[in-house]
Amino acid sequence: MISKVKSSAVLGIEAYLVDVEIDLAQGLPSFNLVGLPDAAVKESRERVRAAIKNTGFQFPVKRITVNLAPADIKKEGAAYDLPIAIGILAAQGLIDSQDLDDYLVVGELSLTGDLRRINGALPMAIQAKTEGKKGMILPAINASEAAVVEGIEIIPVNSLLETVDFLNTRMLENAVEVDYKLNLTSDYKVDFAEVKGQQAAKRALEIAAAGGHNVIMIGPPGSGKTMLSRRLPTILPDLSLDEAVELTKIYSILGLLPTDEPLITTRPFRSPHHTTSNAGMIGGGRIPQPGEVSLAHYGVLFLDELPEFNRNVLEVLRQPLEEREVTISRSLTTLTYPANIMLIAAMNPCPCGFHGDSKQNCSCSHYEVERYLNKVSGPLLDRIDIHIEVPRLEAEVISSSPDGESSAQIRARVNKARQIQYKRFKDEEINCNSEMNGRLLEEYCELTIEGKELLKTAIKRLNLSARAYDRILKLSRTIADLAGANKIQEEYIAEAVQYRDLDRKFFAN
Ligand SMILES: Nc1ncnc2c1ncn2[C@@H]1O[C@H](COP(=O)(O)OP(=O)(O)OP(=O)(O)O)[C@@H](O)[C@H]1O
Ligand SMILES: [Mg+2]
Repeated sequence: MISKVKSSAVLGIEAYLVDVEIDLAQGLPSFNLVGLPDAAVKESRERVRAAIKNTGFQFPVKRITVNLAPADIKKEGAAYDLPIAIGILAAQGLIDSQDLDDYLVVGELSLTGDLRRINGALPMAIQAKTEGKKGMILPAINASEAAVVEGIEIIPVNSLLETVDFLNTRMLENAVEVDYKLNLTSDYKVDFAEVKGQQAAKRALEIAAAGGHNVIMIGPPGSGKTMLSRRLPTILPDLSLDEAVELTKIYSILGLLPTDEPLITTRPFRSPHHTTSNAGMIGGGRIPQPGEVSLAHYGVLFLDELPEFNRNVLEVLRQPLEEREVTISRSLTTLTYPANIMLIAAMNPCPCGFHGDSKQNCSCSHYEVERYLNKVSGPLLDRIDIHIEVPRLEAEVISSSPDGESSAQIRARVNKARQIQYKRFKDEEINCNSEMNGRLLEEYCELTIEGKELLKTAIKRLNLSARAYDRILKLSRTIADLAGANKIQEEYIAEAVQYRDLDRKFFAN
């Protein structure tokens, strides 16, 4: 007897269909799995055997062959347990296999036949819908995650027995109510209203959010760099449904979705430790898994204590920053994950943290300061449009109560500036000002005569490179958008130039 069950596998952030074919033949009892299964899939045999027996069914004393097709793609994980078990029971005629094809079946079995959580339920459900499947049978714990996809029946089951009962009656005894309404309003736990003073830094972050510019903050310990960075996602525009689904897919395949939050609706804030490896940062593994840059997709990647990061790790960030996705090659396969991030870096100006501070003396030698700063100079810094200094708070400000604007107020202005950019770039392949290349800079950054003059003077006086010139143009475009102005005026240039001050002060060479 042959039976066939439809299942699914995830490659990158997309799922594809896997046919699980089971053949029961006469001969010496055996149980073989073919079709490029990895070790975890091979172990499936033991779980399936125990689950079938402990559920009260007969395990066939036959030559069992399980084929996972297509055979050219490596199968990993434990999600094939349930389709294999169902296939074996179907081949014995214990399951009504009529229209079995209409359902996608996934789930990991425990030895008792209970079902365990799987990774990637969301992309699988999307795929099931694309392929025109009627429904998807999956562990109840994954149900709300898959239910985000509309127009496909989600059948949550808790055990092998429940699955068999469902297939034989096509009725769910203990139907788990999947009552999930899409709620796209972001709810962050922090707010800009909590930050005292630091008006200049807040303004810079507003500009960063408005134009999608990367930021580096330099300042003494305790000045609020980490606090400010954490609040950047709260002033970015709300995620669209498509963006939320794409982001959720990444968390789904890593099994990182909280059960009570099937769809991620807040922009992520990721703050990897400076000991993070290359693989941890951009992704890796035998079959490459997403790393921090992808977990921060559509959100903020925060690198605290930037000079402490391994230089190599900062190097590998260049590709995702440029291309907004990351490609990882391994011997088995090459995968691409989305990585559209805003980078925020923070650092002290020197090892002791007080170089350039108005009150406290710096105890580092000139050489130590230089060596510290040199750790981050170069290509990465070139991709950071805004450099700001975050000075220590004055005593009066520390003891006062915060009186700044809320994130929602700032976000309203950011949204407006973003709308202008969406319109501007609707025929281009980019979304915001930070992504403009030379041609677009020419086309969209028209300066007033005074603006032109000031820019020329600034370049000469500050001895700025061509790169810095482009940066200033981009930034002033965003500042003009925040002001709702068409042409770039003198004052916008003047403000933009300020955000380059630091590389003259700290990175003079
Ligand atoms: N502007 C501010 N308004 C309110 N509280 C602040 C402000 N700046 C700092 N603080 C308080 O000081 C604490 C330390 O700030 P934070 O961790 O952001 O400093 P930091 O600049 O990142 O320091 P380090 O260089 O040591 O990492 C914060 O948790 C917060 O309680
Ligand atoms: Mg900090």
